[in-house]
Amino acid sequence: MSYEDSARIINDDIFDLVNSCFDEEKSSRNIEGRLNFFNTYNDYFVLTDDGSYSINSKEINHKIETLHTSTGAISESFEKFIKPMKFDYDSDIAVLDICAGLGYNSSAAISDFIEHGSDSNLKIDMVEISPATLACGLLVPSPIKEHDITKKAIENELIAQDYATLSMEKCQIPENIEINVYIEDARQTVQKLNDNTYDAIFLDPFSQNMAPELFSLEFFKEFKRVIKEDGIVATYTSSAPIRAAFIEAGFYIGQGPIFGRKQGGTLASPNPLMLDTSLPKNDEIRIALSDVGIPFRDPNLNNSSEYILEKRTEERHSARHNTKISSAVKTPIFLGNEMDDEKLKRRVERNLAKMNIPSTTSPEAFYIIECEENYSKKQDSENNSRNRILDMEKRLKKVKSGNYDFT
Ligand SMILES: C[S@@+](CC[C@H](N)C(=O)[O-])C[C@H]1O[C@@H](n2cnc3c(N)ncnc32)[C@H](O)[C@@H]1O
Repeated sequence: MSYEDSARIINDDIFDLVNSCFDEEKSSRNIEGRLNFFNTYNDYFVLTDDGSYSINSKEINHKIETLHTSTGAISESFEKFIKPMKFDYDSDIAVLDICAGLGYNSSAAISDFIEHGSDSNLKIDMVEISPATLACGLLVPSPIKEHDITKKAIENELIAQDYATLSMEKCQIPENIEINVYIEDARQTVQKLNDNTYDAIFLDPFSQNMAPELFSLEFFKEFKRVIKEDGIVATYTSSAPIRAAFIEAGFYIGQGPIFGRKQGGTLASPNPLMLDTSLPKNDEIRIALSDVGIPFRDPNLNNSSEYILEKRTEERHSARHNTKISSAVKTPIFLGNEMDDEKLKRRVERNLAKMNIPSTTSPEAFYIIECEENYSKKQDSENNSRNRILDMEKRLKKVKSGNYDFT
């Protein structure tokens, strides 16, 4: 099966119904199919808590996910992707919306831009692999009026690609807003984009086990090339390999907003001053020191998700007790701490011993995590999550090789 087929993502039933609807539109040139679709097939749409609709994915790697959080699909766009941005509304703004889906994140960006009454220009490049998913964006009720602008851009591209036939969206795209829709694998699109272009990148794939290829180190290196110095990447996940990949790609990272999840997402920028909040201390320690911080790799930006997951598992295995502390029982977070639970302590110390760290309170342990003494939730250009993580990585290496100095 081709990558496009396996990633075509929405639930197979709705996928087939949407395709038939647009095939029928082509043969009959009748507007009714599109107009009635939502009411006829309402059961396939998932109502979220803020009244906006989502859809379910198909089963990928044994999992089904909804495209948006049940807490509120359009609210999620504003909370996770728009609020953390620090746009300068007096200048032109460029946004890269990766995994555009129903177009909610782009619509939220348009709404925010219009609300600020900016005289400048907004350019949005939307990237989505699945025409049927974009077509679903035409079929759902617009959760905000600016979604009609996005719908017009989606319809234009679906007509250009001979997927849709009729021009039914009446909304005009304002003159100072340009929306380009790329219908392809985002890994291919990103390689064609110009250096130093975007003020914001919205990264909104399915979770890492379904789509690790959209969280890889090499993909993020492309982000680093196309983002402006003050640009911000926003993504909903707090996962260690993803944060580690941002760091290895040259980004500073910070904690993103919490919405519909237990933990905040992740923000990344080439400029540390664009990111206010450090990651939680234990997240930094685990990313720096344990094998959970091994990123997903996709050297030529063309591997399958299964292959990428498998390779990472192998790499974690060979890194454990070698270049990284075992992530079992969250071993590294106990460095510097007394432990009461004797059984857990024995397991932790067995893992540490393999890295030449005699105990959780040994000089070696304190040496590795020394920078965490200056931990501050508010980060600046020196004292920040990236610098602390890189410092701890370096010290672990020295301790493992016996090449360090306590003085
Ligand atoms: C969580 S949904 C995104 C929801 C979306 N941001 C919105 O506002 O509705 C993930 C999307 O990623 C798309 N996708 C999956 N693999 C992709 C790829 N390689 N390139 C681009 N898009 C992809 C899926 O088709 C799906 O629409």
